[in-house]
Amino acid sequence: MSKHSHHHHGLAFGIDVGGSGIKGAPVDLATGEFAQERHRIPTPQPSTPEAVAKVIAELVDEYDLPHDVPIGVAFPGPIHHGVIGFIANLDKSWKGVDLPALIKKETGRHVVAVNDADAAGIGEVRYGAAKDTKGVVLLATLGTGIGSALVVDGILVPNTELGHLEIDGFDAESRAAESARGREDLSWEEWAARLQRYFEVVEMLFSPDLIVVGGGISKHHENFLPLLHLKAPIIPAELRNAAGIVGAAALAAEGAGLA
Ligand code: BGC
Repeated sequence: MSKHSHHHHGLAFGIDVGGSGIKGAPVDLATGEFAQERHRIPTPQPSTPEAVAKVIAELVDEYDLPHDVPIGVAFPGPIHHGVIGFIANLDKSWKGVDLPALIKKETGRHVVAVNDADAAGIGEVRYGAAKDTKGVVLLATLGTGIGSALVVDGILVPNTELGHLEIDGFDAESRAAESARGREDLSWEEWAARLQRYFEVVEMLFSPDLIVVGGGISKHHENFLPLLHLKAPIIPAELRNAAGIVGAAALAAEGAGLA
């Protein structure tokens, strides 16, 4: 039994705030599976704090949740004790916002806010591709941006923001995210060359024992992971797009010390 197993009973609610959709579901913490069907509401435009908070309240209201169910919100920016440090891919007015305070005002409920890639990393470590892996696990989500999670012997080092490493003079995610592949119409080989450069730098800096690649594109991993040559094994995420919801729910249940 892992030292986290005492948290693995009961239910928590996870919410994943993304650039195109905001998704939520109750999570069975024993299995890491959804206890009820997931709901998705398109991200409002502009994606201001007030507009997103309303959508989060709507999602919570879709379910009949007891007041003491832990709620975790995964959010695409670094979050230091609830406060958004900066924001790359949502409305710029998020910078400096205290996310749990905002949600409390909107819903009356206490939430734990965590970075989206950190949530996905914990989802994969607790229930997915990196389950019970010892040592240094690095998860990278490839989507609109690049998110990163660094988990050492099951413990998260939050807010690593390795998508914003400056590599060859560029913000790394602007070259190597999934969105760059679409925007520049890159072939799998061309995109893989950019990923190779990206993961080489990350590997040089962190010497991971295992690299897990998440984000929606991880379902097409056969097209690009075999083209990468790194020291550590590099494998696809298992929970795919559920990882953020599941990890946010797990971290909320654990208290996480991030609130
Ligand atoms: C943000 C990260 C986030 C990642 C994936 C980056 O642009 O700075 O906080 O984890 O995108 O959403």
